[in-house]
Amino acid sequence: MTFSAENWQQSAEELARWYRKHRRPLPWRASKDPYRIWLSEVMLQQTTVAAVVPYYERFLKVFPTVQHLAESPLQAVLEQWAGLGYYSRARNLHKAAQLLATRGFPQTAAELIEIPGFGPYTSRAVAALAFGEAVGVLDGNVIRVLSRFRGEKLEWWKTHGRKILQEHSDQLSRYDDPSDVNQALMELGATVCTPQKPLCSLCPWAKHCQARKKDLVHKLPLKKPKRESEVWVWKVQLIKNKQNQLLLLKNEYAPFLKGQMLFPGSVLQRSKAPKTFDLKHSITHHLIYVEIEKRKYSKKIGSDGLWIAEKDIKKTNPSSLLQKILGAATS
Ligand code: ADE
Repeated sequence: MTFSAENWQQSAEELARWYRKHRRPLPWRASKDPYRIWLSEVMLQQTTVAAVVPYYERFLKVFPTVQHLAESPLQAVLEQWAGLGYYSRARNLHKAAQLLATRGFPQTAAELIEIPGFGPYTSRAVAALAFGEAVGVLDGNVIRVLSRFRGEKLEWWKTHGRKILQEHSDQLSRYDDPSDVNQALMELGATVCTPQKPLCSLCPWAKHCQARKKDLVHKLPLKKPKRESEVWVWKVQLIKNKQNQLLLLKNEYAPFLKGQMLFPGSVLQRSKAPKTFDLKHSITHHLIYVEIEKRKYSKKIGSDGLWIAEKDIKKTNPSSLLQKILGAATS
């Protein structure tokens, strides 16, 4: 079925009207401050709304403006982030704040994306929600809503499929308030057009939804083929000095937790799981079998890394894998 400009316009209006009536009163919806919107979008990546709300409110009490954030030490930012996970988000946020505090927020997605740490999603979200630019966002929720609405079997993880969905999302934003349209897509995906049991009877688009017409609701969006998981053995060295501190080095040897401070060691990829190991842990597609070796510090160990007391390791690297290793080493 072809979809004309008039069809898009009507769809955008239905969607935005629904949103204005049914939106949840979330704290980041109370303001057009680009800093507040940016912060919410970064926190909401990979974390649920329910988990984010208390962190968001506490974070803004401590860092009420982008200037406060930029002038605070990274450690203070990581402390406020502790528990939210994916700590590179906090590091990137802090870094970008340094730039934004002096030059201010650019107002278009095309300029925002030039700022290190702003990807296509965040740039579009801030441009549309804070500045009203007619650009559409594309995240997991939006991909699901639009794939179903248009009843299209798109390979959304590939360039071509994404491009079509991006055009749909942009198109909708042109016909009503871009902030409302984008948040409506997110809201619909989060509360009505959910992955497992969509509540089609509550959907403002139920009448024109192509997935419903074609009985494809549960088949769309298509499933991204899973990357095969890789088995790695990590021989990790816990090296203690006389002050009972442990050595951490910048990770330039393992394919997981890249660039982060890790215990020294070595990794090897295997075709099968090893028979003996101290613990195992998965990070994305890496299935990691850890063998722990405890060593006393000796002069032979050249050490340009950091010596950190065990209780402070979480602050330097909050990864749960390091905590698991420490737990296994003391048990
Ligand atoms: N998920 C990502 N961004 C969101 C927003 N602004 N509101 C609700 N859920 C979201």
